[in-house]
Amino acid sequence: MCGIVGYVGKAQAAPILLDGLSKLEYRGYDSAGMAVYDGQQINIQKATGRLKVLSELTHDGEIMPGTVGIGHTRWATHGEPSDTNAHPHFNKSRTIALVHNGIIENYQKLKNLLSEKGYEFYSETDTEVVVNLLDYYYNKYGKDMLTAVTKVMHRVEGSYALGIIFQDHPDLVYSVRKDSPLIVGMAQDGNLIASDVPAVLKYTRDVYFIENQEIACLSEHDIRFFNEDGDEIQKEAKHIDWDINAAEKNGYEHFMLKEIYEQPKAVRDTISPRIKDGQIEIEELGMSDEEIKAIKKIHIVACGSAYHTGVTNKYVFEGLARIPVEVDLASEFRYRNPILNEGDLLIVISQSGETADSLAALRLAKEKGITTLGIVNVVGSSIAREADRVMYTWAGPEIAVATTKAYSCQLVALYLLALKFAGVRGEISDETMKEYLRDIEMLPNQIESLLGNQERIQKFANRYVAAKDVFFIGRGIDYAISLEGSLKLKEISYIHSEAYAAGELKHGTISLIEDGTLVTAVVTQEDLYKKTISNIVEVKTRGAVVMAITNDDNLEIEKCADYTIYVPKTNQYFTNSLAIIPLQIFSYYVSVGRGLDVDKPRNLAKSVTVE
Ligand code: G6P
Repeated sequence: MCGIVGYVGKAQAAPILLDGLSKLEYRGYDSAGMAVYDGQQINIQKATGRLKVLSELTHDGEIMPGTVGIGHTRWATHGEPSDTNAHPHFNKSRTIALVHNGIIENYQKLKNLLSEKGYEFYSETDTEVVVNLLDYYYNKYGKDMLTAVTKVMHRVEGSYALGIIFQDHPDLVYSVRKDSPLIVGMAQDGNLIASDVPAVLKYTRDVYFIENQEIACLSEHDIRFFNEDGDEIQKEAKHIDWDINAAEKNGYEHFMLKEIYEQPKAVRDTISPRIKDGQIEIEELGMSDEEIKAIKKIHIVACGSAYHTGVTNKYVFEGLARIPVEVDLASEFRYRNPILNEGDLLIVISQSGETADSLAALRLAKEKGITTLGIVNVVGSSIAREADRVMYTWAGPEIAVATTKAYSCQLVALYLLALKFAGVRGEISDETMKEYLRDIEMLPNQIESLLGNQERIQKFANRYVAAKDVFFIGRGIDYAISLEGSLKLKEISYIHSEAYAAGELKHGTISLIEDGTLVTAVVTQEDLYKKTISNIVEVKTRGAVVMAITNDDNLEIEKCADYTIYVPKTNQYFTNSLAIIPLQIFSYYVSVGRGLDVDKPRNLAKSVTVE
């Protein structure tokens, strides 16, 4: 995690670094820092807390003059959040400053070696080891920066994206990466490095995606690239078409609310270009009908909310395409020695395309010779590049740490994929296909209609801002929806919540129900209405207050639920896309009601690039 930026050019660096970091705070926000060369020496300013503390400390960068610099926003791994542990870090003579995103796994061994050579360390970070190792090689190899950087790359184990400035060559920014994201932006008055595209969009739309173990060397007018042997290589810039406003709040109080409201458009953008004349065409997928027919089993791996879209779509793939599906948390999959056979397809779902565990699971499958497919939002991200096949979710940049629109786009992307597979494998007729596609095409408008209901949900949320525990129950796809509803609530409100398969309640969970406990029941699967209603009655008998989310034809629910939110009726496979909307709104308003930082919940980060 963590976000890094760097700038060299005509303009003052510090304000550009602060602006870039503000777009990267989603990657971590426990402390921040900048290093700027002022014409004579490198100055560093660091501050614990949000970026605004650093902005205030440096008067929006004004007290740090200079046109070359690097910056960092941190999510602590080694060493608590503190001014000392915040980046950038200096070598002992304060002539090299470095920022780092990632984890150096062999840092202790390297630290011992450097200590034996007389190096001393002021912080608990793995990063300080890297800057001193760089110092060591820089001095050992005739003050040749490129050689020093390549030597460091060969010695450190783990993941890193580094931004480096050297006092001896103050007109340059060096950068290098392995398993942590890094891009280089080519702007009119200078050049930039960043962990992610939104950080540079204000200055340029032309970016280079840096591959593993490539080095970039930036000056005001030039960008040069080198491989790990130090040989110069050529790279092609990519033009980014994103709307810059998408990365701004546009009058909404929080990014999360804005992104909730962007869902009709995001879902439409993900669906529309792919439905043509009653058929599904996924342009970038590049899978032949033969390949699709040959699939014997699907493994879905992902983390967080993306995992929940996998759980939902297990039902969809198995129900529609009749292909067996296993869904795993990526962090579990990679260490459980999974059985992967010829004919299996591994689908990795990831908004960022950078989640370390998901990426590792993908690599494992590739090693075993299994075809891999990434369902990814960020174009050009590691998973998008490394997977054999890719399907994009066109959600646009998502800033709030708690995902909403990217999650909704993952859902519909997978519905389309499942339907495509079902059609090619002859599991559904053309007629049924058309019917399903009609249902899918209606989802954006139906989501829109649900967004009009927010005031009612807000009032209900306000009553539960002081809740201690909240339970979510459902069966089948409703259970998958409950998983996401529960995660949304707990991650941004810090209220303890759990999701349970409704039928499992009586095997222990029901003992947690007390007078007044809020239970959210998701009841959208028609075949299971009666079963879940029985479970609602069971918890009500024990004193629970029940909020039900159900289809607008299930009036039966009024008899047992205390509060009901109706969602438009759609095909049973696609109900998640509608039922999740009120749950997102509910969580949002509980968090707002508790006065919390909705977009940046404590201890979390949006892109988790460490194990
Ligand atoms: C983090 C985020 C979640 C996200 C998960 C997976 O935990 O806070 O919102 O679902 O990572 O991220 P990915 O980018 O792989 O979808």
